[in-house]
Amino acid sequence: MNAPDARTRPANPQGILYVGMDLGTSRTSIAASNGVRETVASYVGYPKDVISKKALKKEVLFGDEALANRLALNLYRPLAGGVIQHSDAAPDSAEAKAYLKAAQELIRHAVGLARPQADELVYAVIGCPAQCSLKNKSAILEAARPVVDSVMIVSEPFTVAYGIDQLADCLVIDIGAGTTDLCRMRGAMPTAEDQLTNNFAGDHVDRKLEELLKKKCVGASFSIHAIRELKERFSSVGDTKEPVWFEVPVAGKPTRFEVGAELREACRSIVPPMVDAIHQLIASYDPDFQSRLKNRVLLGGGGSQMGGLREMLETEMKSRLGEGRVTRVDEPTYGGANGALKIAHDMPPEFWEKLS
Ligand SMILES: Nc1ncnc2c1ncn2[C@@H]1O[C@H](COP(=O)(O)OP(=O)(O)OP(=O)(O)O)[C@@H](O)[C@H]1O
Ligand SMILES: [Mg+2]
Repeated sequence: MNAPDARTRPANPQGILYVGMDLGTSRTSIAASNGVRETVASYVGYPKDVISKKALKKEVLFGDEALANRLALNLYRPLAGGVIQHSDAAPDSAEAKAYLKAAQELIRHAVGLARPQADELVYAVIGCPAQCSLKNKSAILEAARPVVDSVMIVSEPFTVAYGIDQLADCLVIDIGAGTTDLCRMRGAMPTAEDQLTNNFAGDHVDRKLEELLKKKCVGASFSIHAIRELKERFSSVGDTKEPVWFEVPVAGKPTRFEVGAELREACRSIVPPMVDAIHQLIASYDPDFQSRLKNRVLLGGGGSQMGGLREMLETEMKSRLGEGRVTRVDEPTYGGANGALKIAHDMPPEFWEKLS
């Protein structure tokens, strides 16, 4: 979506542009108080050499443009498993610094997508995976420092819940690429006990599918990007018998393989840990309110679009917990950014981390 022009741009007497950002492993989305909503795949690419720099005419590329030109780029996906890559093991290594720089460029690019006016102050609420917000908070603050005036970092399932006014007795499950984050909303700011994170999310499905397809599609060559595309088009955990065709080259010749069973097995691989986490958060909730929690499970994030997932979770909950009602949020892509923007509007000044 493009920025409204000067005639349609909402009046901004305070001179503050609020930006809600969902900083994700696979997508980074923003919703801003001037009406702009944008999303970009979380890829950052730098031309490999002088030739690629000359051909691409850019110092850095983002999102789908970076992915499309990946053979000429050093390509980074700054976040993985819920944190900035390499920031845990060896934070001072060259690799960790390169990924941190890429994360910073991505945040700068995302704020730029909101098209702040030169004289506007930018106040950003950045929603990121629950683990990331704990471990990499200072890195994200550093990344945001040059581009925003005030910032707040919040965990992502909380932003999703806030965005749709589900603040009490509901369980939000955000199925992203790197992590599945679960957050129990009890009508107050969630604490560590209210949240669970695991790495069984979209990337896990992709890796599992890659492993299964390597066995099934003998002699074929394919990239992880092709696997992700296949998954996003046909994903399903249900028992449908519809064939799913995967066309890939074998020794250069396009060849079709039927991969429905493999796709289903890969998609299903993230369900048992999700059900365990739901069980854990419900069983440890105040007993008088457990039934309400069971009947208000909200699914968000890109992975929530897997066919049949909602129904499968309800069946599992009924068998393990006696009851369960699961709803999908309307906007899996912008749910986090919308909620972050809403938090930005609502939070009193003492919650903001002033950077300038
Ligand atoms: N139709 C679909 N079916 C299944 N998975 C999908 C579909 N569309 C997108 N996805 C997957 O959803 C994931 C991306 O979701 P989302 O944009 O919420 O993640 P993210 O916020 O970037 O990741 P994280 O929250 O882990 O940092 C990817 O793994 C993507 O392949
Ligand atoms: Mg996410």
